[in-house]
Amino acid sequence: MSDPDVSLRRLVEEDAESFWAVRLRALREHPEAFGRSYEESRATPIAAVRERLGIASAPPNGVALGAFLGGALVGTAGVARQEPERQRHKATLWGVYVAPEARGRGVARRLVAEAIVHARALPDLEQIHLMVGERSLGARAIYASLGFVPYGREPRANRLGPGDYLDEDLMVLFLVEGPAG
Ligand SMILES: CC(C)(COP(=O)(O)OP(=O)(O)OC[C@H]1O[C@@H](n2cnc3c(N)ncnc32)[C@H](O)[C@@H]1OP(=O)(O)O)[C@@H](O)C(=O)NCCC(=O)NCCS
Repeated sequence: MSDPDVSLRRLVEEDAESFWAVRLRALREHPEAFGRSYEESRATPIAAVRERLGIASAPPNGVALGAFLGGALVGTAGVARQEPERQRHKATLWGVYVAPEARGRGVARRLVAEAIVHARALPDLEQIHLMVGERSLGARAIYASLGFVPYGREPRANRLGPGDYLDEDLMVLFLVEGPAG
């Protein structure tokens, strides 16, 4: 049963400040889990965050979801459709993060499951891709249990520092049956 103290909803432009605070915390505390660094992200003007969040969280582009505990944003997950015409059947799962004080109560699982539900409702979207770092074993387990399957590994996908590389696993969830054959 899902935790009644935690509620999920779509994030909107007005959530930009709390979204960005959580995002920067995720990047600062988990450099092994994300493709962008805290250092390169921290100077982003909040107006740019607001604009991007508004676009990213509106159909048919995708959704950004927030999990709230006691009124505070404690978790995020998003699905973003690819822009090029020939790739608009694909979306990327991004920003999966739950703050330490809210972990271990099924919040990430709910966020990702809900993101999949939203993705299914997006017109003509056929598959969700993601990349997960080799050290993010918890996240990988959640994705696998929700139906994502691995299809490759990018060696040295991220360089955390001199000589400190991270491979990333590529996973996909097909929302529709492929052509018979
Ligand atoms: C990974 C993360 C999102 C999990 O959040 P969470 O809300 O604690 O996860 P949940 O409570 O929903 O756990 C769901 C399942 O994953 C398992 N799980 C969670 N963290 C785990 C870990 N570190 N190792 C192994 N399993 C883990 C849980 O046991 C649970 O399994 P169950 O449903 O069979 O009981 C959170 O620890 C986090 O934000 N980590 C840092 C950022 C990160 O790695 N993001 C992913 C980027 S790809």
